[in-house]
Amino acid sequence: MEFQELIRRRYSVREYRPEPVSEEALALILEAGRLAPTAANRQPFRIVVLHTAGRKAAFARVYSRQWFLQAPVVLCVCGVPGEAWVRQDGRSHLDIDAAIVMDHLILAATDEGLGTCWIANFDMNAAREVFELGAGEVPLLLTPLGHAADRPRLKERRNLDVLVRYIR
Ligand SMILES: Cc1cc2nc3c(=O)[nH]c(=O)nc-3n(C[C@H](O)[C@H](O)[C@H](O)COP(=O)(O)O)c2cc1C
Repeated sequence: MEFQELIRRRYSVREYRPEPVSEEALALILEAGRLAPTAANRQPFRIVVLHTAGRKAAFARVYSRQWFLQAPVVLCVCGVPGEAWVRQDGRSHLDIDAAIVMDHLILAATDEGLGTCWIANFDMNAAREVFELGAGEVPLLLTPLGHAADRPRLKERRNLDVLVRYIR
């Protein structure tokens, strides 16, 4: 898909059909995540792939929206704080790295014709347990992954003149 079309086509999918995600599509999506840039190339992230079948009750504790439980797959981008690049002033770039990884995953999924939705508003403790994270790993972002059953809405965005400032 052409890039400008891709970024216009992506939207937060909040209704999924039960059809599985193909292994080929999943492999391409994960490879896009692997290739994401990270500060100082530290790659302080792990991606956990979880098939939701048979785990609906556990997932409801992570994020209880009905549509979240419909997707056949959920991806969790977790950060490894001990591996992240930290600037001289103490600012860790872990969250930024994780967001770039998630953006790569989500755009690659869109390219494969699959739906996603960024989710940050989940229960941390339940996510740690359900995604079986290690002691040095923090769940940062989730997305369901599956075939959309809803339709894109009109994108409400501020105008460029509000968002961009030129210094001449
Ligand atoms: C960092 C981040 C966290 C988000 N967390 C949630 C969330 O927890 N639940 C949810 O339904 N949507 C979440 N969203 C989706 C936004 O609400 C959505 O991207 C925004 O309203 C624009 O709509 P669009 O994605 O359809 O273009 C999140 C988006 C981002 C970028």
